[in-house]
Amino acid sequence: MINYLISPGGKLSGNLRVPGDKSISHRALMLAAIADGQSRITGFLDGGDTLATMAAFKAMGVEIQHTSENEVLVNGVGKGGLSTPGKVLNLGNSGTSVRLLSGLLAGLGVECELTGDHSLMSRPMRRIIDPLQKMHALITCSEDGTLPIHIKGGACLTAIDFEMPVASAQLKSSLLLAGLSAKGRTRIHEPVATRDHTERMLRQFAYQVECAGNTISLEGGGALLGTNIEVPADISSAAFFIVGACIAEGSELIIENVGINPNRDAVIHILREMGADITLLNEKIVSGEPIADIQVRTSELHGIDIPESRVPAAIDEFPVIMVAAACAQGVTRLTGAGELRVKESDRIAAMSEGLQTLGIEVEEQETGMTVTGGTIEGGEINSFTDHRIAMAFSIAGLNARAPITVKDCANVETSFPGFVELAKNAGLDLLVQEQV
Ligand code: S3P
Repeated sequence: MINYLISPGGKLSGNLRVPGDKSISHRALMLAAIADGQSRITGFLDGGDTLATMAAFKAMGVEIQHTSENEVLVNGVGKGGLSTPGKVLNLGNSGTSVRLLSGLLAGLGVECELTGDHSLMSRPMRRIIDPLQKMHALITCSEDGTLPIHIKGGACLTAIDFEMPVASAQLKSSLLLAGLSAKGRTRIHEPVATRDHTERMLRQFAYQVECAGNTISLEGGGALLGTNIEVPADISSAAFFIVGACIAEGSELIIENVGINPNRDAVIHILREMGADITLLNEKIVSGEPIADIQVRTSELHGIDIPESRVPAAIDEFPVIMVAAACAQGVTRLTGAGELRVKESDRIAAMSEGLQTLGIEVEEQETGMTVTGGTIEGGEINSFTDHRIAMAFSIAGLNARAPITVKDCANVETSFPGFVELAKNAGLDLLVQEQV
């Protein structure tokens, strides 16, 4: 078991680059694999989750070369070119891999079984299975709505008009990807807008997608054309350093080339509403996605009621936003965030337990939590093998009064390879301990 030991204090400074966006890397790879022709992906996240997607396509006969660090060359096989894998596809910890691949593969004639690690095995899959079955996919999951998922070849998908019951980009994307091989026009209505990386990525591969309000639609049957994609740095990884610089005395930091898609950037808005000193520099569009350098300085934070409308666009950042809340003056209330209970861990429970261990007053509710800012003490934290819980509590060490041990941090590699080195270079006093 890998634990992190964080000594209190320190400040964050300098210019840094965090790894490529996880959501965008998955999508670039998936579309490149089924496109006609070659694609080059730069800035690719070489993390456990995206490497699981890569291994799945290799097992289905796609030639993928890692030409250098963070750069992959994919020889697309076209929509009809995937072969049936000779083994079970194990997607490890990655919900995005399993949900998006289920949709993509359902209509491509591939016979396969999808499975994952202990955390992924307990996450809800019925939300994708039910609508995919409505599209006539031959797909099943276990009785209790979890992995393994089985997909049979030979299904002829038909398009559906679907009202999404939850705000989930993985669900939306799964159905859009199934729609690529369905007969007719697939129409998805979202309750609130979620990250639109799939829609943007499809257009990069010359596939038409229409968006009108919160309805997204595409016509099945077309082909995708291979292309070159530059993946921006992941705002979800940058978020740890943004909060770190806000709460550590004497910090000034620039994080370069970060994706600031309007459906992902709510962490910036929420922190600014809490008083954070954040400036966006060099804004531009790269491979269809907005990016910027993010400058952050130490800030006097105060508690707020987080608007529920901001929840989907900050869904992965709440562990570290709750650390900011613990360091803020007054009370922060998070509501309407029940989806946090079905992430890599139950993040409402994990953050409540961890913050309380560190002496912070927290009230846990079914769909959120109330955090009263205070003094962060030391203690031993359970990460519940969740990468973002592990990194959030590591960052809390910058403003703690005593050492913090975060247990079971190996999964940080799933989204943020190199976190320890980068954090140490920026100013966090972190020691990796291997416990046998
Ligand atoms: C993701 C969507 C979100 C997010 C996850 C990545 C994606 O999940 O939490 O980390 O790449 O589409 P949900 O769709 O379950 O909200």
